[in-house]
Amino acid sequence: MGAGYVGGPTMAVIADRCPEIQVTVVDLNAERIASWNNPELSRLPVYEPGLDGVVARARGRNLHFTTEVDAAIAAADMVFLSVNTPTKTRGVGAGQASDLRWIEACTRQVAAAAQGHTIVVEKSTLPVRTAETVQTILAAAEQGGDGAIKSFAVLSNPEFLAEGTAIADLEAPDRVLIGGQDADALEALAQVYGHWVPAERILRTNLWSSELSKLTANAFLAQRVSSINSIAALCETTGADVKEVARAIGTDTRIGSRFLQSGPGFGGSCFQKDILNLVYLCRHYGLTEVAEYWEQVVALNSWQQRRIARLVVQRLFNTVAGKRVALLGFAFKADTNDTRESPAIRIAKDLLEEGAQLSIHDPKVADEQIVRDLAQPAGMGESTWHSCIDPVEACQGADAVLILTEWQQFRTLDWSAIATVMRRPAWLFDCRAIADAEAARAAGLQIWTVGEG
Ligand code: NAD
Ligand code: UDX
Repeated sequence: MGAGYVGGPTMAVIADRCPEIQVTVVDLNAERIASWNNPELSRLPVYEPGLDGVVARARGRNLHFTTEVDAAIAAADMVFLSVNTPTKTRGVGAGQASDLRWIEACTRQVAAAAQGHTIVVEKSTLPVRTAETVQTILAAAEQGGDGAIKSFAVLSNPEFLAEGTAIADLEAPDRVLIGGQDADALEALAQVYGHWVPAERILRTNLWSSELSKLTANAFLAQRVSSINSIAALCETTGADVKEVARAIGTDTRIGSRFLQSGPGFGGSCFQKDILNLVYLCRHYGLTEVAEYWEQVVALNSWQQRRIARLVVQRLFNTVAGKRVALLGFAFKADTNDTRESPAIRIAKDLLEEGAQLSIHDPKVADEQIVRDLAQPAGMGESTWHSCIDPVEACQGADAVLILTEWQQFRTLDWSAIATVMRRPAWLFDCRAIADAEAARAAGLQIWTVGEG
């Protein structure tokens, strides 16, 4: 249930790897389901390298996308709950707690529509002990209601894929985590993954450890990004270079080299949401110091995003009003069309607030998405934005260009061609430290690179 960034790719890979299992992905959003069924594979609702090939092999064979939710539940031996669990925006816990209304709605629908024995798998990221709620709702249906005989087992099976590498992550996961008490259900799910994941990589825990491990993994990963971004700021003021520092500390096997890339702050639908959820849970259980500790990871991240917009304004003689500023990249990371919590959104909004005219280029993000994110149609208002089909067009007449997403093509930009169309003095703000700085400098641009003193 849920044909989103997780449900779609995850179930497509299961179908691809388990040809004898019929996989049906359901969603209430008919438009999304229609896109998953689109014969043109370039128009799938999620952009992920390799996803089109997986869908092409399995769709119509044992992979189906439909809005017929009840029928799919009734036919299923196993139901994965893969719906959205965003941060609550109102009521108790607003701004921190997860909004579980979609999980509860799904659970209730499974309780009503299931037939026979059904294994219910939590695939969404959930606060620890959510399975208790799921079990309680399902147990009420077991006890009677419509008179039909039905039974349930509940498992937690959080998803660790990262966007942009989802297919590779699913095909060769570091581990698959399954939490639960019911040995038969655990075995049944382990067998599904056993089609392609080595047995030693399938970890089994109790329900609560599994639920909490997902929040913890994201908190630790996000903490690394905030840690390196904090050091990047110190590098900039002391003459150190964060890339050199990251290399130096990353060779210590206890620290490891991955996730030490400083940038404009982490984005994506998971890190902030999951840490805030952890913070909420800690406060709920009276662990104030623990809550404050993790809260700082998010606070540092917001500061990093804000300081970039501020320093752009400072370098441009303390005003960007009426000036054209090019943004290269709008997605929260490369190789995805997802913009949820993208640092580009806050940076763009801050620059618009200062009166800038933004020209935005992203290879995969649709204009309609940018309209939604900036809450402003293109070309409207005093400070405006418009989208451009390539970086050179975006830089036309610009005083500054910001690299906000590490798309491969931004590593090899033709800086002499770009510099020619910009207004002098022109700035490059390389927020991902990926540009060919020497070429940009040779073309006459002034450069600020994140973490470079
Ligand atoms: P998403 O918003 O892309 O997709 C969720 C889908 O669920 C939507 O299409 C929505 O219409 C559908 N839905 C909601 N209620 C429904 C219902 N009652 N019946 C059927 N469909 C319903 O979200 P996502 O990014 O796929 O995330 C899903 C879960 O996975 C979240 O808990 C998230 O935290 C977690 N997660 C996400 C990622 C990621 O990289 N995006 C990675 C790991 C875990
Ligand atoms: C994350 C987790 O990695 C994944 O395991 C989980 O299932 C979902 O959340 P995702 O958000 O898709 O995945 O991408 P990720 O690669 O983790 O990047 C998150 C953000 O951190 C991006 O904005 C990225 O640019 C940023 N980041 C990551 C850095 O700034 N520096 C790094 O070194 C790594």
